[in-house]
Amino acid sequence: MSLTAESHRVPLSDGNSIPLLGLGTYADPQKTPKGTCLESVKIAIDTGYRHIDGAFVYYNEHEVGQAIREKIAEGKIKREDIFYCGKLWNTCHPPELVRPTLEKTLKILQLDYVDLYIIELPMAFKPGDAIYPRDENGKFIYHETNLCATWEVECHPYFTQPKLLEFCRQHDIVIVGYSPLGTSRDETWVNVSSPPLLEDPVLNAIGKKYSKTAAQVALRFSIQRGVVVIPKSFNPQRIRENFQIFDFSLTEKEMKEIEALNKNVRYVELLMWRDHPEYPFNDEY
Ligand code: A2P
Repeated sequence: MSLTAESHRVPLSDGNSIPLLGLGTYADPQKTPKGTCLESVKIAIDTGYRHIDGAFVYYNEHEVGQAIREKIAEGKIKREDIFYCGKLWNTCHPPELVRPTLEKTLKILQLDYVDLYIIELPMAFKPGDAIYPRDENGKFIYHETNLCATWEVECHPYFTQPKLLEFCRQHDIVIVGYSPLGTSRDETWVNVSSPPLLEDPVLNAIGKKYSKTAAQVALRFSIQRGVVVIPKSFNPQRIRENFQIFDFSLTEKEMKEIEALNKNVRYVELLMWRDHPEYPFNDEY
């Protein structure tokens, strides 16, 4: 498959297709000024991104919707050019809540549809107004669900997921890899004792050969394996940098070298929910 800035979609079995490169939009709401997400999504669309990954729980979904709508109004894009993925939050897992929650998301976005709606995490919390419900002792209040669905999978050169990827290839399932650059290293939910991916000597050495950064090499590696990536950036220079991955390609030898970096390092451990009966990260995938 030849991948270009204009054409890097993977076909899906329902006739739709998903761009291999998307913009992630999670940033700590306490530390991110209002409007940053709006501007970033607009810059991304101008840069050529056509896949945006968002969620209700990121508290900025209204800005994502506004950016998409403004770019449609400008005539830069049509709605059908954009692939938007939204997510069902943990407090809304009971089947009867799924549709109204999606409808609420559409209202927030002020769009008629989302292209993909996935389960944010397979760990249900007690339904209600509190997004992170806790009891009087400050303990999270969980909820029982019967979950038989799949969800996004962390995937990058330190966590290459060979078994899962092979299974998905055999069954024609497309993987979306979150944190393809190794996360923002927010210590409240990330295992920061693991080495930072972008400081890896092999990624940097390969990057030097092509005048690319370690981040660009990591992203190119994933899309060359057919893994969709959604690196978040709200920095205009890095939003553009992350899109400049269609003007070089990695040799088979380099792909193997990067595959060999796998350390089974899962950065997103969400240890604060490790006592949830459905905590997913003790299982092997
Ligand atoms: P920033 O928004 O300041 O660019 P995620 O794991 O959610 O995709 O987050 C990726 C993290 O990596 C963000 O903290 C983002 O910060 C940072 N980042 C994004 N692109 C690059 C890049 N090209 N080089 C270095 N860091 C990056």
